[in-house]
Amino acid sequence: MSETQNRFDVVVIGAGPGGYVAAIRAAQLGMTTACVDSRGALGGTCLNVGCIPSKALLHSSERFAAARDRYAEHGIELGEVKLDLGRMMSRKDDVVAGLTKGIGQLFKKNGVEHVHGTGCIPKPGEVEVALEGGGTRTLVADRIVIATGSDSTPLPGVEIDEKRIVTSTGALALDAVPEHLVVVGAGVIGLELGSVWRRLGARVTVIEYLDRILPGMDHELARHAQRLLGKQGLEFRLSSAVKRAEVGTDAVALSVEAAAGGAAESLQADVVLVAVGRRPYTEGLGLDEVGVTRDDRGFIQVDDRFETSVPGIHAIGDCIPGPMLAHKAEEDGVVCVEMLAGQSGHVDYGKVPAVVYTAPEIAGVGKTEDELREAGVGYNAGKFPFLANSRGRAIGETDGFVKVLADAKADRLLGVHIIGPFAGDLLQEAVVALEFGASAEDLARTVHSHPAMGEAVKEAALAALGRAIHV
Ligand code: NAI
Repeated sequence: MSETQNRFDVVVIGAGPGGYVAAIRAAQLGMTTACVDSRGALGGTCLNVGCIPSKALLHSSERFAAARDRYAEHGIELGEVKLDLGRMMSRKDDVVAGLTKGIGQLFKKNGVEHVHGTGCIPKPGEVEVALEGGGTRTLVADRIVIATGSDSTPLPGVEIDEKRIVTSTGALALDAVPEHLVVVGAGVIGLELGSVWRRLGARVTVIEYLDRILPGMDHELARHAQRLLGKQGLEFRLSSAVKRAEVGTDAVALSVEAAAGGAAESLQADVVLVAVGRRPYTEGLGLDEVGVTRDDRGFIQVDDRFETSVPGIHAIGDCIPGPMLAHKAEEDGVVCVEMLAGQSGHVDYGKVPAVVYTAPEIAGVGKTEDELREAGVGYNAGKFPFLANSRGRAIGETDGFVKVLADAKADRLLGVHIIGPFAGDLLQEAVVALEFGASAEDLARTVHSHPAMGEAVKEAALAALGRAIHV
């Protein structure tokens, strides 16, 4: 390979949502770009073993549970509803394959070269790739963008084998419905994948260290979510810690203690899902040798141009501080390479939406009520239940509510939180409103179509102003 073929304006390491989007945007801006990834299928954790397969299974399992438990109320008699888990899994695999291939096509269209192998940085300006097919290739780059993402945080005393003790990766590919699934961690992954297997028939126990589920989300929503998920059969053991797990022939024996300490109790599970968070993945890049600084939790430190402690080496997404979410990584990637092209930019981590795809969905943007109280900010809170929303009533989806938080004096929107049907999609108008510095009055005076779930957002904004119409 000639030297010119190995020289690029930008080399991105990692083809997850952060990396592949950064590579495409860099190419759009006229930079010669390569994207290095060891996985055959592009798209990183999100497309291959994260967001996409989990959403496919969440949707399929929700349809299954609805056919089994809820269609009769609409006057639809189906007889016995049977699960074909193999078919459900192969549909999920097809969805993933279609989307990952699509990124390959986008790379071709934009002229991004995918270099299939594992990259490291022997020195600034150089990425050495151990090629998947054997051999090495050295890429010379004006700018390097590290987008290597994250992997699951291990739990001491609980060894992952991805068969009986699994991370989200194994939990997305079980070949049978476990009789008893124990989920460690009541965060996003625990609740989403716990929901999938509960709907498909497993008994599911969720063990959480804290005295609440979904830390980081608005507390009132989390309490409401726990009640609704409890009704679906998820059993919660809060303020509890798993100390050890031993795989036996028939079951996994877990030793569980109260978080405050005390005597251990034994719990049997067929499968254990460990979902206690994710940590930045920067193994094998040679960061220490090249002088890239990380914080004490392993996140790469960057300045407001996403540049690390080494000039010319940048980092984005889950491996730098900020919310560990695909859409945040994408924005990081776009802004990072736009700045490399001489443009200016900024990602406001205070306005990154978060969505939990349980049923109902749970979504939030901006400040939570707990954060506002703690910061001593005066605010008005307006709430509107989906029970009072006509579309919700028509389609039989009435669980949950919208909560709008606005500054007590200026009326500027501070946060919007939704638990309810399509909460993730409904939230987006609030994200736009926050981004534009809108007030609750702006949201309340915006025409919303009728009958639509979105009217609940308008009504919650009206409620923050003390003048909701339908409650
Ligand atoms: P998480 O941070 O959402 O939740 C982890 C939970 O485990 C916390 O509630 C924590 O208190 C608990 N925990 C920690 N140590 C524990 C222990 N020893 N025993 C019991 N509980 C313990 O992490 P999760 O669910 O693993 O997700 C990882 C990342 O992936 C998050 O950043 C999340 O935002 C992201 N993600 C996002 C999704 C989405 O946007 N829908 C879907 C799935 C993951």
